[in-house]
Amino acid sequence: MTTIGLIGSGHIGTALARQAVAHGYDVVLSNSRGPETLTDLVAEIGDRARAGTAEEAASEGDLVVVTIPFKSYRQVPVAPLAGKVVIDTNNYYYERDGRFPEVDEGRTSPTELLAAHLPDSRVVKAFNAIQAAHIVSAARPAGDPDRRAVPIAGDDAEAKRVVASLVDDLGFDVVDAGPLAEGRRFDRDKPAYGAELGAEAMREAVAAG
Ligand SMILES: NC(=O)c1ccc[n+]([C@@H]2O[C@H](COP(=O)([O-])OP(=O)(O)OC[C@H]3O[C@@H](n4cnc5c(N)ncnc54)[C@H](OP(=O)(O)O)[C@@H]3O)[C@@H](O)[C@H]2O)c1
Repeated sequence: MTTIGLIGSGHIGTALARQAVAHGYDVVLSNSRGPETLTDLVAEIGDRARAGTAEEAASEGDLVVVTIPFKSYRQVPVAPLAGKVVIDTNNYYYERDGRFPEVDEGRTSPTELLAAHLPDSRVVKAFNAIQAAHIVSAARPAGDPDRRAVPIAGDDAEAKRVVASLVDDLGFDVVDAGPLAEGRRFDRDKPAYGAELGAEAMREAVAAG
């Protein structure tokens, strides 16, 4: 039994939690305000869902998703995520997040900054380039001709295998864009960002990014 910890329970966190529970995973949801504010959501998602603090989601998850406004990435707990596979869904919107000159100048990317904040974790970028609602509505079983693809990037091959297996379980093909730095190819304003494409076309969109 795999437990997915969610740091952030907004649009993306909720969609991933629903989809994961529907496919037999347990989930621990967390937000910035505390578990008591997640009671209704957890009841609605069902018995496989529970709420905790961000630290609890981090320590109880076999696999942990960071899905909060990017500007808050330094608040993600470091110690309980050591050694773990961490999925980063975050995108940089300067209108919301404020300016990060190192990203604006192309010296780094949002996911690389999270990875630097979590030096002992194995960070994989995934689910940043798909609309939250589509995580539920566009999911299809393997082999379905309309199945869409989700691009991923990461430096750790085993971590990418774990994440690819989750993405597949949740209803999407996987396009591996390569190392974490190549995740920039499906960041905001790139052809693959928000693209509703199958694997072959998604591979081309990522390559064009
Ligand atoms: N929405 C989309 O379609 C979409 C698609 C792909 C990627 N993304 C990206 O994914 C990330 C999340 O997006 P979203 O739309 O799900 O955001 P959202 O709906 O605004 O939800 C953000 C969640 O993060 C929580 N949070 C904020 N600071 C936190 C902290 N320090 N510790 C723990 N939880 C914290 C919030 O909790 P409180 O409410 O208690 O503050 C809330 O549950 C963003 O970077 C976004 O750009 C979004």
